[in-house]
Amino acid sequence: MRVLAISGSLRRDAYSTMVAKAASRAAPEEFDVTLFGGLGSIPGFNEDLEPDAVPEEVEELRRQIEGADALLLVTPEYNASAPGALKNAIDWASRPHGASALMGKPAAIVSSSPMPFGGVWAGQQIRKAFSITGTPVVETELAIGKVDEKFGPDGLLMDDETRLKLTALLVEMEELAGQVNQAAQEERPS
Ligand SMILES: Cc1cc2nc3c(=O)[nH]c(=O)nc-3n(C[C@H](O)[C@H](O)[C@H](O)COP(=O)(O)O)c2cc1C
Repeated sequence: MRVLAISGSLRRDAYSTMVAKAASRAAPEEFDVTLFGGLGSIPGFNEDLEPDAVPEEVEELRRQIEGADALLLVTPEYNASAPGALKNAIDWASRPHGASALMGKPAAIVSSSPMPFGGVWAGQQIRKAFSITGTPVVETELAIGKVDEKFGPDGLLMDDETRLKLTALLVEMEELAGQVNQAAQEERPS
């Protein structure tokens, strides 16, 4: 199960990135989680560049999404919304409309914040965008509040409950991917 994890924070010591790495460590054996490293280099979405002048950074994002069996998005919350850089990447990846790398790609979304609600609105915003991009998302909404209390100074997750929730989310994502694949096979003409 190849998972592309995208942290929505560009900050060096971001909790979002710590959560993505913790999810990788909490994943069952059959998971291979890769952290996307290029979010900060993706230019602002510009429809004038389509289809012939799409930036290489965007092509790379699309390739990595296409090469993954599923996506794990980990988002902070800025002003009750998802960060611009993450939303921008989703906008690029959503093209071409109806045939994009996001179409039919199973996903799970985690939000986190030092605030008690765990950035739940940011997670919901991405879920809303994915409802339009044709990206199936697991039912569970995982919002990790007080995230700053959950990691040690070494960046490792200390909280067992959060670890269990991350593992359960990934298992749910694997089940969703199985359902999506089965539905695609049934639709294929024999
Ligand atoms: C511009 C800005 C807006 C923010 N707005 C929110 C918010 O609406 N809700 C919230 O829970 N935290 C908010 N925060 C605090 C972030 O949750 C906190 O900085 C968090 O550590 C950022 O995520 P990261 O650690 O992954 O970079 C905001 C922070 C910034 C810089």
